[in-house]
Amino acid sequence: MTRLLINIDHVATLRNARQERYPDPVRAAHECELAGADGIVFHLREDRRHISDRDVAALKESVKGKLDFELSMAPGIMSICERTQPHLATLVPERREEITTEGGLDVLQQVDDVERAIERLHTSGIPQVALFLDPVPEQILAARRIGADAIELHTGEFANAGTPDEAHAQLTRLARAARLAHEEGLLVHAGHGLDYDNYPLFREHVPHIAEVSIGFAILARSLFTGLRTAVADMRRLVQPIRE
Ligand code: PXP
Repeated sequence: MTRLLINIDHVATLRNARQERYPDPVRAAHECELAGADGIVFHLREDRRHISDRDVAALKESVKGKLDFELSMAPGIMSICERTQPHLATLVPERREEITTEGGLDVLQQVDDVERAIERLHTSGIPQVALFLDPVPEQILAARRIGADAIELHTGEFANAGTPDEAHAQLTRLARAARLAHEEGLLVHAGHGLDYDNYPLFREHVPHIAEVSIGFAILARSLFTGLRTAVADMRRLVQPIRE
Protein backbone atom coordinates (compact mmCIF):
# COMPACT_ATOMS: atom_id res chain seq x y z
CA MET A 1 0.00 0.00 0.00
CA THR A 2 1.37 3.39 -0.92
CA ARG A 3 0.57 6.18 1.51
CA LEU A 4 -0.55 9.49 0.07
CA LEU A 5 0.86 12.51 1.88
CA ILE A 6 -0.20 15.92 0.67
CA ASN A 7 2.03 18.98 0.69
CA ILE A 8 0.00 22.06 1.66
CA ASP A 9 2.76 24.71 1.25
CA HIS A 10 1.00 26.42 -1.63
CA VAL A 11 -2.11 27.15 0.39
CA ALA A 12 0.20 29.33 2.47
CA THR A 13 1.78 30.74 -0.72
CA LEU A 14 -1.66 31.97 -1.80
CA ARG A 15 -2.45 33.39 1.64
CA ASN A 16 0.87 35.21 1.81
CA ALA A 17 0.46 36.69 -1.69
CA ARG A 18 -2.15 39.00 -0.20
CA GLN A 19 -0.81 39.01 3.34
CA GLU A 20 -4.19 37.71 4.46
CA ARG A 21 -5.19 35.18 7.10
CA TYR A 22 -6.82 32.92 4.51
CA PRO A 23 -6.76 30.44 2.89
CA ASP A 24 -5.61 28.61 6.00
CA PRO A 25 -3.17 25.73 5.41
CA VAL A 26 -4.37 24.08 8.62
CA ARG A 27 -7.93 23.97 7.31
CA ALA A 28 -6.59 22.63 4.02
CA ALA A 29 -4.75 19.88 5.88
CA HIS A 30 -7.98 18.94 7.64
CA GLU A 31 -9.89 18.78 4.34
CA CYS A 32 -7.13 16.62 2.82
CA GLU A 33 -7.34 14.18 5.70
CA LEU A 34 -11.13 14.02 5.48
CA ALA A 35 -10.81 13.20 1.78
CA GLY A 36 -8.48 10.27 2.39
CA ALA A 37 -4.91 11.59 2.68
CA ASP A 38 -2.68 9.51 4.95
CA GLY A 39 -0.75 12.53 6.10
CA ILE A 40 0.43 16.07 5.52
CA VAL A 41 3.75 17.49 4.37
CA PHE A 42 5.06 21.02 4.79
CA HIS A 43 8.41 22.67 4.15
CA LEU A 44 9.48 25.34 6.61
CA ARG A 45 11.85 27.40 4.50
CA GLU A 46 14.46 29.72 5.92
CA ASP A 47 12.85 32.71 4.17
CA ARG A 48 9.38 31.62 5.44
CA ARG A 49 7.97 32.30 1.99
CA HIS A 50 4.97 30.05 2.59
CA ILE A 51 4.64 28.05 5.83
CA SER A 52 5.20 30.12 8.99
CA ASP A 53 6.34 29.06 12.45
CA ARG A 54 2.77 29.53 13.61
CA ASP A 55 1.47 27.21 10.90
CA VAL A 56 3.93 24.55 12.05
CA ALA A 57 2.62 24.65 15.62
CA ALA A 58 -1.01 24.58 14.45
CA LEU A 59 -0.37 21.69 12.04
CA LYS A 60 1.32 19.71 14.78
CA GLU A 61 -1.77 20.24 16.96
CA SER A 62 -4.36 19.36 14.38
CA VAL A 63 -3.02 16.82 11.86
CA LYS A 64 -4.27 13.35 12.78
CA GLY A 65 -2.26 11.29 10.29
CA LYS A 66 1.43 11.25 9.49
CA LEU A 67 3.20 14.60 9.67
CA ASP A 68 6.25 15.08 7.43
CA PHE A 69 8.40 18.14 8.19
CA GLU A 70 10.64 18.98 5.21
CA LEU A 71 13.69 20.97 6.15
CA SER A 72 17.19 22.03 5.28
CA MET A 73 20.05 21.50 7.71
CA ALA A 74 20.02 25.17 8.79
CA PRO A 75 20.47 25.12 12.61
CA GLY A 76 17.42 27.32 13.39
CA ILE A 77 15.11 25.18 11.28
CA MET A 78 16.55 21.98 12.73
CA SER A 79 15.72 23.26 16.23
CA ILE A 80 12.11 23.98 15.27
CA CYS A 81 11.81 20.50 13.79
CA GLU A 82 13.19 18.94 16.96
CA ARG A 83 10.69 20.85 19.07
CA THR A 84 7.81 19.95 16.74
CA GLN A 85 8.48 16.20 16.81
CA PRO A 86 6.88 15.23 13.47
CA HIS A 87 6.55 11.54 12.60
CA LEU A 88 8.99 12.06 9.74
CA ALA A 89 11.68 14.65 9.02
CA THR A 90 12.76 14.86 5.37
CA LEU A 91 16.06 16.63 4.74
CA VAL A 92 16.13 18.60 1.48
CA PRO A 93 18.62 21.01 -0.08
CA GLU A 94 17.48 24.63 -0.11
CA ARG A 95 18.53 27.66 -2.09
CA ARG A 96 16.84 31.00 -1.56
CA GLU A 97 16.56 31.87 -5.22
CA GLU A 98 14.95 28.60 -6.33
CA ILE A 99 11.22 28.50 -7.15
CA THR A 100 10.94 25.07 -5.57
CA THR A 101 13.40 22.38 -4.47
CA GLU A 102 15.44 21.77 -7.61
CA GLY A 103 17.33 18.57 -6.96
CA GLY A 104 18.21 15.96 -4.40
CA LEU A 105 20.50 16.41 -1.46
CA ASP A 106 24.14 15.75 -2.32
CA VAL A 107 24.99 13.44 0.56
CA LEU A 108 28.42 12.54 -0.79
CA GLN A 109 29.54 16.19 -0.75
CA GLN A 110 28.56 16.72 2.90
CA VAL A 111 28.47 13.30 4.42
CA ASP A 112 29.54 14.34 7.93
CA ASP A 113 27.02 17.19 8.12
CA VAL A 114 24.15 14.98 6.94
CA GLU A 115 25.14 12.20 9.32
CA ARG A 116 25.19 14.67 12.24
CA ALA A 117 21.80 16.07 11.20
CA ILE A 118 20.24 12.59 11.07
CA GLU A 119 21.68 11.75 14.46
CA ARG A 120 20.46 15.02 15.97
CA LEU A 121 16.92 14.49 14.68
CA HIS A 122 16.84 10.89 15.92
CA THR A 123 18.25 11.83 19.31
CA SER A 124 15.52 14.44 19.73
CA GLY A 125 12.97 11.62 19.43
CA ILE A 126 11.88 11.88 15.78
CA PRO A 127 11.33 8.27 14.71
CA GLN A 128 11.96 8.55 10.96
CA VAL A 129 14.44 10.62 8.99
CA ALA A 130 14.39 10.62 5.18
CA LEU A 131 16.81 12.12 2.68
CA PHE A 132 15.48 13.62 -0.57
CA LEU A 133 17.78 12.15 -3.22
CA ASP A 134 18.24 11.94 -6.95
CA PRO A 135 18.03 8.32 -8.14
CA VAL A 136 21.80 7.78 -7.93
CA PRO A 137 23.08 4.49 -6.41
CA GLU A 138 26.07 6.09 -4.63
CA GLN A 139 23.78 8.59 -2.89
CA ILE A 140 21.45 5.81 -1.75
CA LEU A 141 24.29 3.69 -0.39
CA ALA A 142 25.65 6.72 1.47
CA ALA A 143 22.21 7.42 2.95
CA ARG A 144 22.12 3.86 4.24
CA ARG A 145 25.61 4.09 5.75
CA ILE A 146 24.87 7.26 7.70
CA GLY A 147 21.67 6.04 9.31
CA ALA A 148 18.76 7.35 7.22
CA ASP A 149 15.52 5.39 7.66
CA ALA A 150 14.10 6.33 4.28
CA ILE A 151 14.92 8.06 1.05
CA GLU A 152 12.54 10.22 -0.94
CA LEU A 153 13.30 9.75 -4.61
CA HIS A 154 13.26 13.01 -6.55
CA THR A 155 10.80 12.45 -9.38
CA GLY A 156 11.24 15.92 -10.92
CA GLU A 157 13.33 14.82 -13.90
CA PHE A 158 10.76 12.18 -14.77
CA ALA A 159 7.91 14.67 -14.37
CA ASN A 160 9.68 17.24 -16.56
CA ALA A 161 10.79 14.80 -19.27
CA GLY A 162 10.22 16.33 -22.70
CA THR A 163 9.65 13.11 -24.63
CA PRO A 164 8.23 9.62 -23.89
CA ASP A 165 11.73 8.13 -24.38
CA GLU A 166 13.18 10.48 -21.81
CA ALA A 167 10.33 9.73 -19.40
CA HIS A 168 11.02 6.00 -19.77
CA ALA A 169 14.74 6.50 -19.24
CA GLN A 170 13.96 8.36 -16.02
CA LEU A 171 11.52 5.64 -14.93
CA THR A 172 14.26 3.05 -15.41
CA ARG A 173 16.62 5.07 -13.20
CA LEU A 174 13.91 5.50 -10.56
CA ALA A 175 12.99 1.80 -10.60
CA ARG A 176 16.64 0.73 -10.18
CA ALA A 177 17.10 3.20 -7.36
CA ALA A 178 13.92 2.04 -5.61
CA ARG A 179 15.01 -1.61 -5.83
CA LEU A 180 18.45 -0.82 -4.46
CA ALA A 181 17.07 1.23 -1.58
CA HIS A 182 14.60 -1.52 -0.73
CA GLU A 183 17.33 -4.17 -0.78
CA GLU A 184 19.40 -1.99 1.52
CA GLY A 185 16.55 -1.90 4.01
CA LEU A 186 15.53 1.71 3.40
CA LEU A 187 11.92 2.79 3.10
CA VAL A 188 11.25 4.36 -0.28
CA HIS A 189 9.27 7.56 -0.64
CA ALA A 190 8.91 9.66 -3.78
CA GLY A 191 7.83 13.09 -4.81
CA HIS A 192 8.13 16.25 -6.85
CA GLY A 193 6.08 17.01 -9.93
CA LEU A 194 3.88 13.92 -9.64
CA ASP A 195 0.44 14.61 -11.07
CA TYR A 196 -2.76 12.95 -12.29
CA ASP A 197 -1.27 12.20 -15.72
CA ASN A 198 2.19 10.94 -14.82
CA TYR A 199 1.45 9.09 -11.58
CA PRO A 200 -0.10 5.98 -13.25
CA LEU A 201 3.07 5.53 -15.33
CA PHE A 202 5.23 6.01 -12.27
CA ARG A 203 3.18 3.48 -10.29
CA GLU A 204 3.41 0.93 -13.05
CA HIS A 205 7.20 1.07 -13.36
CA VAL A 206 8.62 1.91 -9.96
CA PRO A 207 8.28 -0.71 -7.20
CA HIS A 208 8.48 -0.51 -3.40
CA ILE A 209 7.05 2.99 -3.01
CA ALA A 210 5.79 3.20 0.56
CA GLU A 211 4.81 6.85 0.39
CA VAL A 212 4.34 9.67 -2.10
CA SER A 213 4.41 13.39 -1.36
CA ILE A 214 2.29 15.40 -3.78
CA GLY A 215 1.34 19.06 -3.55
CA PHE A 216 1.10 21.35 -6.52
CA ALA A 217 -1.02 19.19 -8.84
CA ILE A 218 -3.64 18.56 -6.17
CA LEU A 219 -3.88 22.18 -5.07
CA ALA A 220 -4.02 23.39 -8.67
CA ARG A 221 -6.89 21.00 -9.46
CA SER A 222 -8.69 22.01 -6.28
CA LEU A 223 -9.30 25.51 -7.70
CA PHE A 224 -11.75 23.95 -10.10
CA THR A 225 -13.02 20.90 -8.24
CA GLY A 226 -12.66 21.79 -4.58
CA LEU A 227 -9.98 20.27 -2.41
CA ARG A 228 -11.84 17.15 -1.30
CA THR A 229 -12.55 16.08 -4.88
CA ALA A 230 -8.97 16.80 -5.96
CA VAL A 231 -7.63 14.68 -3.09
CA ALA A 232 -10.13 11.88 -3.73
CA ASP A 233 -9.14 11.84 -7.43
CA MET A 234 -5.49 11.34 -6.46
CA ARG A 235 -6.43 8.86 -3.75
CA ARG A 236 -7.97 6.65 -6.42
CA LEU A 237 -4.67 6.62 -8.32
CA VAL A 238 -2.43 6.02 -5.30
CA GLN A 239 -3.48 2.48 -4.55
CA PRO A 240 -1.81 -0.78 -3.55
CA ILE A 241 1.13 -1.76 -5.72
CA ARG A 242 3.49 -4.74 -5.92
CA GLU A 243 5.91 -4.56 -2.99
N1 PXP B 1 8.91 16.35 -2.10
C1 PXP B 1 9.79 17.35 -1.88
C2 PXP B 1 11.06 17.04 -1.18
C3 PXP B 1 9.49 18.66 -2.29
O1 PXP B 1 10.37 19.64 -2.06
C4 PXP B 1 8.26 18.92 -2.93
C5 PXP B 1 7.93 20.31 -3.36
O2 PXP B 1 7.65 21.09 -2.28
C6 PXP B 1 7.38 17.85 -3.11
C7 PXP B 1 7.73 16.57 -2.71
C8 PXP B 1 6.03 18.02 -3.73
O3 PXP B 1 6.18 18.42 -5.05
P1 PXP B 1 4.93 18.92 -5.89
O4 PXP B 1 4.42 20.14 -5.20
O5 PXP B 1 5.52 19.19 -7.24
O6 PXP B 1 3.92 17.82 -5.88
